[in-house]
Amino acid sequence: MQQRDRRRLVGLGAAGAVAVALVAALVLWSGPKREVLPPPAIPGLPGTPPLGWNSWNAYGCDVDEAKVRHAADVLASSGMRDAGYRYVVVDDCWFAPERDASGRLRADPARFPSGMRALADDVHAKGLGFGLYTGASFQTCAQMLGAYPGSTGSRGHERQDAQTFAEWGVDFLKDDWCGPVAGADEVVGVFAAMRDALRATGRPILYSINPNSGSGLRPADLRQFAGVATMTRTSSDVIPVWHALGGAAGMLGVRDAVDLSAEGASTCVTRPGSFCDNDMLVIGSAPVVVDGAATPPLTAEEERTQFAMWAMWAAPLMLGDELEAVSPQTLAMLTNPGVLAIDQDPLVRPATAVPGSGGSLWTRQLADGSTAIAMVNRDDVPRLISTGLTGLGLPSSPQYEVSDVFAGTGKRQNVQLRMRVAPHDTVLLRARAVS
Ligand code: GAL
Repeated sequence: MQQRDRRRLVGLGAAGAVAVALVAALVLWSGPKREVLPPPAIPGLPGTPPLGWNSWNAYGCDVDEAKVRHAADVLASSGMRDAGYRYVVVDDCWFAPERDASGRLRADPARFPSGMRALADDVHAKGLGFGLYTGASFQTCAQMLGAYPGSTGSRGHERQDAQTFAEWGVDFLKDDWCGPVAGADEVVGVFAAMRDALRATGRPILYSINPNSGSGLRPADLRQFAGVATMTRTSSDVIPVWHALGGAAGMLGVRDAVDLSAEGASTCVTRPGSFCDNDMLVIGSAPVVVDGAATPPLTAEEERTQFAMWAMWAAPLMLGDELEAVSPQTLAMLTNPGVLAIDQDPLVRPATAVPGSGGSLWTRQLADGSTAIAMVNRDDVPRLISTGLTGLGLPSSPQYEVSDVFAGTGKRQNVQLRMRVAPHDTVLLRARAVS
């Protein structure tokens, strides 16, 4: 009897186990699929996006150590370093066109006579981080395009170059494809080799990649770089114009970058320690020549749009201008604590465009439970942009506290938001339910 009972119990147990397994399988099968992403590429770095300065837009191949020291001085003395702009990055053309007899990279002796270790020491002494650029393939971009001699790309030299960078005190490496068209597996593999080489140095060197340049990769391929780099470029270069798409070899204006992001074609993943790089800030930049004509400088409104949207996307904020004559207004904008707090929000959840808004309305969830809202006027005439706050994902409430981040003002109001937005301008708000 006892035995029979036990058998029945065992029988029931088996049936129960099968039922539990079936239910579990059903839940797993029908529930939302949670993608497990690899850990951030380089351990030991902050979870929030990097800020700094990069030499390329201002100086191209005409960069030298005096210009780099000058940029470091301005960052340190203007208050920008203390606001978070930490990295000074020397882009393409810093190196001698050939490696030395043991295959090591060397600084160009004419433009960087002190050498990179000494320059890095000077930058560090100002409380800043030092960055360099390399080509992931066999040449850098300037070499590939014939603007600079030699073939000093890092492909096949990853271990040696990473070791050299670590010995020089490099804190940030920009690694640019600029090689032949290749399949996604090959491009991912080449960048991962440098990531592994950087990791092996034991120095937390922020790893910034541009897989777009010449590789033939599409924005839809970028998800594969999650875990490969600290920051991954999502587009071609941004130039200081409002709209450039179709002109200047596929370069983007500020509005084009907003539109491309609203279309959601890029699968790049932003999360703590991993960022999507929308290229440099062109705020305060000198006009460029597009299709033979000099462009007008960006207006204050257009600059506000770039700064607001890069912050909304939790994007790296890399200044690209000469830092010669930063106006007090530009400085005030670049160090605006409210905008920087949105960019640096610890939740690191990038903004998404509100469906149906045509890229004029964006929201981003913040760590303290509030929501950042950007209202972008993409048009050439003023627009009244209005929206209901609950429709933006805020909890339903009779009262909201809404602060205008650029104006530094705040007010209480009901659920409906109506803002007049100047042409090409962005109103950036931070809202939370209060009752
Ligand atoms: C491009 C890159 C620029 C700059 C340049 C240097 O591919 O997008 O940001 O690094 O190469 O040649």
